[in-house]
Amino acid sequence: MLSIDLRGKKAFIAGIGDDQGFGWAIAKMLAAAGATLYIGTWTPILNIFTTAWKNGKFDASRELPNGSLMEFAQVYPLDASFDYPEDVPQEIRENKRYKDVSAYTVSEVAQQVEQEHGKIDILIHSLANGPEVKNPLLKTSRKGYLAALSASAYSFVSLIQHFGPRMNRGGSALTLSYLASERAIPGYGGGMSSAKAALESDTKMLAFEAGREWGLRINAVSAGPLASRAAKAIGMIEKMVLYYEANSPLKEELKAEQVGAAAAFLSSPLASAITGEVLYVDNGYHAMGMATEVPKEA
Ligand SMILES: NC(=O)c1ccc[n+]([C@@H]2O[C@H](COP(=O)([O-])OP(=O)(O)OC[C@H]3O[C@@H](n4cnc5c(N)ncnc54)[C@H](O)[C@@H]3O)[C@@H](O)[C@H]2O)c1
Repeated sequence: MLSIDLRGKKAFIAGIGDDQGFGWAIAKMLAAAGATLYIGTWTPILNIFTTAWKNGKFDASRELPNGSLMEFAQVYPLDASFDYPEDVPQEIRENKRYKDVSAYTVSEVAQQVEQEHGKIDILIHSLANGPEVKNPLLKTSRKGYLAALSASAYSFVSLIQHFGPRMNRGGSALTLSYLASERAIPGYGGGMSSAKAALESDTKMLAFEAGREWGLRINAVSAGPLASRAAKAIGMIEKMVLYYEANSPLKEELKAEQVGAAAAFLSSPLASAITGEVLYVDNGYHAMGMATEVPKEA
């Protein structure tokens, strides 16, 4: 029987802060396939996440198909907007959510993971942040635009720069994108659409460079809408979910597990010739050129 077997593989997942998002769903699928998981949780929410975990808040959603509970071998604080300790501004360093935490820049986390666990096989980038996401692009400041690009696109480049040399040949890195990279999605502002366009372009360039340099595969999943914590910040996610459900070839609500399953496949040896790909996991919505729901004439 053909199955996804990731036993003996080590995965680092950047961008888990609760059990509602794609990172969590991907983690569950990788765990179900036998991988050992290390995760990076955004520094300011690390305490909230680990406390909720200890208090059993996630126990029900940790359950794997064989009845066991998903485990993270280690949770690292991570702020993927910073590459080296000297990049962290004083005001952030002294912020109450950062001041008792150390070694959360990308270079430090990659170094620690290797020191503590050796080379990894799978890298997942499931994070994004656009402080002005609610602003139309026409009203986005340069600062907000660059912050979206930094946290949501360059963070993937940085993760691959720092983890790439610490990954086994044949390893896989995956990021999460969205259709707003190539089509106008009203309301997806703040430079987030620009960040997703950069992310998809980078996926191709990194596939070439990291393929030649370290024998790694680099792919993206362009996912349909999911009411995660990050998506709720956009302010219209419920509408997007309903719109996709009404207008997609498969008339269903997308489940995070479906993205998790695609991610597990792309991370596995079954996808060993797939790299530089942006795979749509959106019930086929991207293929549509016209909405099926037409407003009634006035
Ligand atoms: N939810 C959707 O509708 C949707 C659709 C397509 C693509 N995506 C993408 O999926 C990915 C995961 O998002 P999600 O929707 O599952 O939400 P999520 O809230 O589960 O994940 C986003 C994570 O990014 C973390 N984060 C933010 N800034 C960070 C930083 N500087 N350093 C480290 N971590 C940081 C947050 O703490 C959070 O845990 C994102 O790239 C998002 O754009 C989401």
